[in-house]
Amino acid sequence: MSNLPLALITGGSRGLGFETARQLGRLGYRLFIASRTSPRLEQAAHGLRSEGFLVTTHAFDMQDQISIQALVEEVKKKDVPIDVLINCAGVMYETGNGDDLQTEYGSTASVLRSAERNVTDTIAINMIGTWSVTRALAPHLGRGARIVNVSSSMASLGEMGPGYYGYRASKAGINVFTRTLAYELRPRGILVNSVCPGWVKTHMGGPGATREVADGAAGIVWAATLPPDGPTGGFFRDGQAIPW
Ligand SMILES: NC(=O)c1ccc[n+]([C@@H]2O[C@H](COP(=O)([O-])OP(=O)(O)OC[C@H]3O[C@@H](n4cnc5c(N)ncnc54)[C@H](OP(=O)(O)O)[C@@H]3O)[C@@H](O)[C@H]2O)c1
Repeated sequence: MSNLPLALITGGSRGLGFETARQLGRLGYRLFIASRTSPRLEQAAHGLRSEGFLVTTHAFDMQDQISIQALVEEVKKKDVPIDVLINCAGVMYETGNGDDLQTEYGSTASVLRSAERNVTDTIAINMIGTWSVTRALAPHLGRGARIVNVSSSMASLGEMGPGYYGYRASKAGINVFTRTLAYELRPRGILVNSVCPGWVKTHMGGPGATREVADGAAGIVWAATLPPDGPTGGFFRDGQAIPW
């Protein structure tokens, strides 16, 4: 039994979740990574273990309550509280389906022509899934834990551009979750914040993105390791507040 602090990272199999796990491992956390695809998850765990980190994996689907409950059972087996919860798993389905719209901002997924399933699944996974997972894990969060909800400036109403209705709405929903949950968890000393990692070179961000994965993850780790008097209920990129 180790007494290292425990960080649970959804979407830890690749991209920003994987890199966030790696950076937290270097800070002395033991890692619990969860995502859909088991082989990819095991490959990720292998990479993290080769750096000397303690890693647990669990394959689950944020759209499936039974698999979320199985994740909770795995956490219970640890018999220690979660110190950091990173809600990083997410999807962006409204792209590359022939429903793109040409605008002055370039090509974007049309609000009117996006397939219904792409919009509803994006909202179900990103927004409702994040709420479901957090709700299920909440009893197992330690006093003074940190929750980081990985959001996007694409949700910022003040700066909203065209297209990607489901994705933007799902992340705006996550931001509502951040603010409301922050009030509810304040008595337990738990800090809850939304973080935009910027446009990052991952499977989702694509090779044309402007930021490296390590830089995007650093802003997530910043929010995961805030001091007890740090902010809660905020929206940040690289440790700086950004507009809702
Ligand atoms: N990349 C960017 O530019 C950017 C910008 C702003 C915000 N973000 C946000 O950052 C987060 C991570 O994105 P990324 O760029 O690292 O994307 P990514 O490489 O596509 O990784 C997405 C992760 O989410 C997991 N996932 C997807 N659907 C899931 C489900 N239903 N249940 C459980 N796990 C699921 C995937 O697991 P599998 O391996 O099993 O598919 C994978 O681990 C997302 O929330 C995204 O919206 C990204």
